[in-house]
Amino acid sequence: MTTRRLGRTDIELSPIGLGCMQFSGTRNVVRWMIRPIDQETVTSVVRAALDGGVNWFDTAEMYGQGQSEEALAAALKTCGIAPGEVTVATKWAPLGRTAADITRTIGDRLRHLGGFPVGLHQIHMPTGSWSSIPAQLKAMAALLKSGEIRSVGVSNFSARQLVLAHRVLAAEGVTLAANQVRINLLHRNVERDGVLDAARRLGVTLIAYSPLQGGLLSGRFHDDPALVRSQPVMRRFFGVLDRRGLSAQGLARTRPLVDTMRAIGKAYGVSVSQVALNWLITRYGDTVVAIPGASKPRQAADAAAVMEFRLTEAEIGKLDELSLT
Ligand SMILES: NC(=O)c1ccc[n+]([C@@H]2O[C@H](COP(=O)([O-])OP(=O)(O)OC[C@H]3O[C@@H](n4cnc5c(N)ncnc54)[C@H](OP(=O)(O)O)[C@@H]3O)[C@@H](O)[C@H]2O)c1
Repeated sequence: MTTRRLGRTDIELSPIGLGCMQFSGTRNVVRWMIRPIDQETVTSVVRAALDGGVNWFDTAEMYGQGQSEEALAAALKTCGIAPGEVTVATKWAPLGRTAADITRTIGDRLRHLGGFPVGLHQIHMPTGSWSSIPAQLKAMAALLKSGEIRSVGVSNFSARQLVLAHRVLAAEGVTLAANQVRINLLHRNVERDGVLDAARRLGVTLIAYSPLQGGLLSGRFHDDPALVRSQPVMRRFFGVLDRRGLSAQGLARTRPLVDTMRAIGKAYGVSVSQVALNWLITRYGDTVVAIPGASKPRQAADAAAVMEFRLTEAEIGKLDELSLT
């Protein structure tokens, strides 16, 4: 599969990137959502992604207060990757801070990334900052103009906020590159809430996070429901809140979909999770790229291999239908 342009920038991304929340360690609240992994495992996950053709990585300040950024940079170096050879996306954490902190903390981002440039800097969420969205975007635009970052993105923005962000940046002569939102077979909200239409109209890339619904769309919990009990507490908590999440009810509801994914995957010799990811990067065309997380090298290799086949329109249609039931 060919690369996709990040918004209207000159950055080319593989349709599958690697989500690096799994590299957060134990320093903050993310430890309730992931199982921490050591540096050696991080390096083997990154190596598997690179070997499979992944050319970009998504991390964030919030992922262990710089721990994920550091672990990613160390892994890339061990794998022989020089700064600039891959794209690194990171995010500013707005909670309880002002736009001035975007400028103040860029040095921390660059230090944690150990020489790897910030290819995309994102506002992690539209809420939580003492400053307005326009003030935060103007600070981002200033970083781009001073050459400290290569492009500007947002995350978890609604259609209205996306249009606002685009307008504010355009007035600064800067293009909005991306909006990172949850999209997967069980979360197709972007199709109804205007985010997909706005992104297409404005030439903004949508970065699909939690593309496997935290592992549910791998089918492994359907095979062995007892595995749910061993999941990190926040994954279980959100699973119970979501009627199609990680709970007995959620597994029952999603079983017909997963059974069909398994049957479709068999014809290609691929796994259920590979069908889930291929649906995502095929269904929405070039507008969407995905960042599956991986805590094991074989998961990263599986994800990367998704770029080697393409589901048919009929298969996409069948999955579309089942994913809404
Ligand atoms: N912007 C935001 O607000 C936001 C929010 C959430 C996530 N994100 C980003 O999106 C990335 C991915 O999201 P996510 O981690 O929430 O969800 P995800 O990608 O849907 O699920 C990742 C988990 O699925 C399991 N998995 C992966 N490949 C598998 C395979 N082949 N077979 C079986 N299980 C497999 C692994 O679980 P185990 O580790 O338990 O094996 C892995 O940790 C994150 O790393 C982060 O970069 C962004």
